[in-house]
This record gives sequence, structure tokens and C-alpha cells, in this order.
Amino acid sequence: MCGIVGYVGPQKAEEILLSGLSRLEYRGYDSAGVALLTPDGLRLVRQVGKIANLVQAVQRAGLTGHLGIGHTRWATHGLPTEENAHPHTDCTGRIALVHNGIIENHRELRAELVARGHRFQSQTDTEVLVHLVEEHYRGDLVEAVRRAVARAVGAYAVAVVHADHPEEIVAARQGSPLVATARPAEGFLASDVPALLPYARAFYFLEDGEVAQVRPGSLRVWDRHGRPKEPVLREVPWDPLSAEKAGFRHFMEKEIHEQPRAVADTLRSELSTPWEEGLSGLDLSRVEHIYLVACGTSYHAALVAEYLWEPLLGLPVSAEIASEFRYKNPALGPTTLVVAISQSGETIDTLMAARGAKERGAPLLAVVNVVGSALAREAQAVLYTRAGLEIGVAATKTFTAQIAALALLGLWLARARGALTEEELRQAKEELSRAPRLVEEVLQLGPRLEALAQKFYTYPNFLYLGRGLLYPLALEGALKLKEISYIHAEGYAAGEMKHGPIALIHEGMPVVVLYSADELPEKVVANMQEVRARRGILLAFADAPDPEVEELADHIVLLPRSSRRLLPFTFTPALQLFAYHVARLKGTDVDQPRNLAKTVTVE
Ligand code: M6R
Repeated sequence: MCGIVGYVGPQKAEEILLSGLSRLEYRGYDSAGVALLTPDGLRLVRQVGKIANLVQAVQRAGLTGHLGIGHTRWATHGLPTEENAHPHTDCTGRIALVHNGIIENHRELRAELVARGHRFQSQTDTEVLVHLVEEHYRGDLVEAVRRAVARAVGAYAVAVVHADHPEEIVAARQGSPLVATARPAEGFLASDVPALLPYARAFYFLEDGEVAQVRPGSLRVWDRHGRPKEPVLREVPWDPLSAEKAGFRHFMEKEIHEQPRAVADTLRSELSTPWEEGLSGLDLSRVEHIYLVACGTSYHAALVAEYLWEPLLGLPVSAEIASEFRYKNPALGPTTLVVAISQSGETIDTLMAARGAKERGAPLLAVVNVVGSALAREAQAVLYTRAGLEIGVAATKTFTAQIAALALLGLWLARARGALTEEELRQAKEELSRAPRLVEEVLQLGPRLEALAQKFYTYPNFLYLGRGLLYPLALEGALKLKEISYIHAEGYAAGEMKHGPIALIHEGMPVVVLYSADELPEKVVANMQEVRARRGILLAFADAPDPEVEELADHIVLLPRSSRRLLPFTFTPALQLFAYHVARLKGTDVDQPRNLAKTVTVE
């Protein structure tokens, strides 16, 4: 949530900050701002709304400089107004600061600072930080930032500049992501790698408690005790073109079409990566329960894994919503394996649930997409999805890549526990290798799904139903529709419908039913009949032509026939394309839907 960029060097800082912010806009987009060091001192430009507004405002102001920081905001404390937009300045106007996170003790700090004569200009929690830097500043900006953040309770990634330090940006991290890098005569920092992809491919990922100083050609880092540390840069495998739309109308559309590659790359990299080593000390035969912990779309991937793994492993496997798991005091220990799943690897609920589990002695495995992310560093072993950079706020290719990774992981665990023979393992892997081709086939249905969207984009409510493995896919289909089109959509286990949601069904209510010959087809047909009897409109997504389904459904999308294990790879792209076209026809902001942020780093 919120994106930060910083630059110092010979190029025009405003251009690098604005282009970096536009690449980070998925992290928040209710207001934005930059602070530039100009010959007339530090100058701020802040605007409500998207980065495009800020770009125009910076042009109008005609400001230029070689040192600056920028911010795109996802409001937590205070409305999205110009005064609450970052950067914030101290009482002298010589120090500017941007922040991502929440300062939990901001009320006490503000009261203290006001009592000592500080003048506040915003309603944000952030502003206390810049006044604290001001109080501690004695000519050494690194020291002032270190002392200031030591007073803060909560999560932060901050970047600070001072008018008397024309070649220095100081940053600190606790709980919110921050990357930094330097190249000859230049220094960069940002919340996330995509902001800096046009300039660098190797980055230092700050650890909690660290403070960094970025100067032209130099990056220095101190640990939480103030001891200097050699920053080791990590190469990232993404190229700058991945941050372009490449002829598609939206990043989401592009990313939906990148799924064959994302799934194939994830399946290919599978067990050749050294992730297994982290678990080598773990006696899998002792594992008694597996918890899969995640949020949002990643939670739906966890549910898919629950359905795949439990019959395979013969063990209790539970998918858990991270924000609940963390606080429900689960019974954890050395015999409970925790698998935390996250695209970003920075989602605070997932990270904290994983950390809590580890502290209680549970072995921790992470499935993440972002190399070097906090969750990847927290876990004993990491299985990377190879989906590449995902910019659309709605997760698409990372979902199918997570399912590919989890399907493989399930097989590996089964083999390690002796629940699969080598031959069964080989066959299962061969079956999975068909997934990318199946996704490609489904993507050919684009025009059919667009035509269906054309018929339904004005409806205000949808119900999505599925059974077995199709239940989490129904949840995901409904989430995709609601988050990008703002249409109310609920996913339900089809068998649960009669226990409540059936009351919603009336003449003209669209009900999306997922039907597969592999998942209780007769029961699903019975559920369809129940909808039909109440004059709901049935949209069947079916992977097998069935006369009863054809008779009952008002509309059928016929998907390629596969096998139970492969169902996520046929149903998911179809549901994504349907949601995408509905949202596009409604004219919503598909890539940056209102109120959302790609990476949720606050509770
Ligand atoms: O980065 P993560 O996978 O941890 O993110 C979890 C959710 O915030 C994310 O999946 C969210 O639900 C997306 N908007 C779904 O499209």
C-alpha cells in the first residue's frame, strides 16, 4: 500500500520519480506527490487523484532537480486531500519525508510534538515522523532518521531528504517493503522493483530495522543496532518490457494471456530449484496437519490445494484466511507444516501469520512470486511461482501459477510420505504438463466470453456456484467480477445454496454454475434445477456436453475436457475473461479498481 520512489543523480529527478510512481500506481492511487531539491530549496507538488494529475502539475510548476522523493498514496489516516498527500515537511520546510505503513502511536507522538511547538499541516499518522526527524537533526541525516524511527511503533518504509544534503536520501524499513540500488553517479530507492526496472536489474532488499543511505554511486546500510552492513544486491529476473501493455488494452488482459507461459515456467522450474533443501531437516512422515495460509486470491489457491492435497496425502489439510489464522491461536508445533502463499510476499496478514507460526515451532514453507520479498526471507523454504511481474491489481496469472506450484508441491509431499509411487508421480507430472496448452485453448474463447459479457454487464448481482475443486474457482470467479466491475457477486459451494442464498434467486438473477464431469455432475445438475425452478438465469461453464445441462442452462460456455487435477486451468481463464469484459464494458478502471491496492501492507 502506497508507493515510494527516490532518486539522486545527474538525470532529471522529476522524470524518474514520475515514471517510477506510474509503475507503482498499483500500490495506491488516491493522491500523489513529489519533493524536489531545486535551486530555490525543497519544493513540493502534490495532487489528489492519479499520477496523471501529478504529472501535469509538475509540468505546470516547471520544477526540475537532481534529488527527489515521490509517493503514491492509499489513504489510511486522513481523507485523500492535497494536505494529506505525501511528501510531508517539517516546520522549517527543509526536510521532506514519504512513508508507507501505519504509525500506531501517532496520537501520543503528535501530542508530544505539538506540546513542544511543532506545527502540523495534515491529518496523517505520517507527519509525526518528519517532525521527529527535525527534532533529532544535528547535521547528520542518517542519525536523525534512525532516532526518529526508533520512536515509532508500527509499520513503515520511509524516505527522507534534507535541503542541506543535496546528494543524500535516507531510508528506513520496518514491516513495509523497500528496495535500493546504486550505479555510477546515481542512487535509487523504491517500494518495489517495477519502479526501477528501466534503470537497474540488481537490488538490495532492506530488512526490518535497517537504515540505508543512497548517494550518487553509493549505497550504505546499517542494521537495527546501527552496525554497518555490506548490502548484497540480488538480480531480479524481470525485464522492463514486462511493465508495458504490449498492445493489450489493460495489464489485466495482457496478464490473462500470459498464463500459458506463467504456468509452463512455474512447472518447468519446479523441483530443480533448491527450495527442497530448506525442508530437508523436516521429517515429513511426522507431519500431522498442513495449514495453507493466505489472503484474497492466494487464499483461493490455498483452497484449491486443500482439495488437491487432502485425498492425495491422507492428512488433514486446511486452507486458512491469514488475518483470522493469526489471531485464532491455532494449535501449532513441529508436526504442523505451514505453507504461506502470497504473490507479493509482502501482504502483512500473511507475513505475520507465517511469522507467528514459525515462532511456535511450525516448519514454514512459502509460495511467492516476488524474489527477495519479506515472506520469502521469513520461510525456511521457498517455492517460487514464475509468473513474472503482475501489474493489474486483480491477480490472474499469479493465481494459475500458484495452483501449478501447489499441485507440484502436493505431488512432492505425497512422494516424500510414500503416498505415491515413482510411476504415479511421473504420470501425474505428465498430466500437469498439459496445463499450459489447455489455458491456451480456453483463451481462444475470448470472443464467446466477450459476447456473453455484452449480455450481462448491466446486471447488479451474480451468484457463482461450484462443488469440490470447482468451489474455490467459483469464489475466485466471483472475486474477479466484484473487484474490477463493482458488481455484487457471491461465490458459494453449490450444495450450500439451499441453506440461504437460494432466497436471492428470482426471475432474472444470473447464476454462474461451474459444471464438470469430474466433480459431482449429478449433484450440480440438481442445483441447476433448483435455480431454474426459481426462474434464475443460468450461465453454465461446463467441460462436458451434457444434455441435462444444455436443457437447463440459458447460456453455456463449453470448455475443453481435461481431468480433475487440471480443472483450475480450464475454468479460471474463462471466468477471468468474462469478468474482464464485463468490467471493460462497464468502463471501470480495470487495472486499478477503486479502493484497492495490489499489495496490502496494513492490517
Ligand atoms: O500478494 P498476495 O497474494 O499476498 O495478495 C493477496 C490479496 O491481497 C490479493 O490476492 C487480492 O485479493 C487481489 N486483489 C485479488 O485479485
